Amino acid sequence: MILVTGANGQIGTVLTEALREAFGEDQVLATDIKKPDGHTGPFEMLDILNTQRITEIVGDYNITTIYHLAAILSANGEWNPQKTWNINLNGSLSILELARAQGVRKVFFPSTIAVFGPTTPRISTPQHTVIEPSTVYGISKATNELWCNYYFNRYGLDVRSVRYPGIISYQSMPGGGTTDYAVDIFHQALLTGQYTCFLKAHTRLPMMYMDDAIRATLELMAAPQEKIKIRTSYNLAAMSFTPAELAEEIKKHIPDFKIMYEPDHRQEIAESWTESIDDHEARKDWDWKHDFNLETMTIEMLKQLKLKYNHV
Ligand code: SER
Repeated sequence: MILVTGANGQIGTVLTEALREAFGEDQVLATDIKKPDGHTGPFEMLDILNTQRITEIVGDYNITTIYHLAAILSANGEWNPQKTWNINLNGSLSILELARAQGVRKVFFPSTIAVFGPTTPRISTPQHTVIEPSTVYGISKATNELWCNYYFNRYGLDVRSVRYPGIISYQSMPGGGTTDYAVDIFHQALLTGQYTCFLKAHTRLPMMYMDDAIRATLELMAAPQEKIKIRTSYNLAAMSFTPAELAEEIKKHIPDFKIMYEPDHRQEIAESWTESIDDHEARKDWDWKHDFNLETMTIEMLKQLKLKYNHV
């Protein structure tokens, strides 16, 4: 059976559904600190710091694969660095350790563009580059990457990982990240016709539509072992844009849409990350290919959210 931690999060919600579609509802155990309303299918409440409970769950449900998504995101992580480190780093390390000890066959670990920092080359950031992140979220994810690599080399644990860009989805909301504006903007465009952005107009960041992120995850996990050459985490890319460019794209569909800018503490985080990612290793090793660009993602987001909000 497959275990998903952080199953209520932005990616977890959609990934759990995709895994259930692929492998059967009863083959995927969703876990999180709270049970969401209306959740169907196997679910267990789980605090990622409760190692004893995870150990029990892995044994009781005969878990063979873990998608470990539980984490605190970049902006929220800065409010309480110690807590963020504890959840993001120690939570992940205990997953790796019990996966090894209990014979779990495969682990997926989500890394992020937040592992990059001000000293990393900003354009077309290479796979192997300077990693000096400035947020506690970035520090914990970068350290996690090294632990993943260690568990593979030392114990042969089949752990696989990608560095997700900002993820844009209509199904679920992000919480506490720096790229969240790229989701909020669509909701506000439809609900109020305007949006106040917490990043400056020309802040360029790597982004990806959720469908691509899910497909990347499933394809990486399904690839034959010998194709996986990188055991820290693969660079992964689809598109890069600024808030101003996204607003222009939305205006093609909602001509009266207005964007205002009130940058806050998240601007500094965004500026410490890079603008675009070189992901040729993922394309070469396991045939990664993105589908959605700025134009097609915008069309799809507006279409899906109109349905959600019942706009005609
Ligand atoms: N989307 C994440 C964030 O903004 C980056 O991994 O924190």
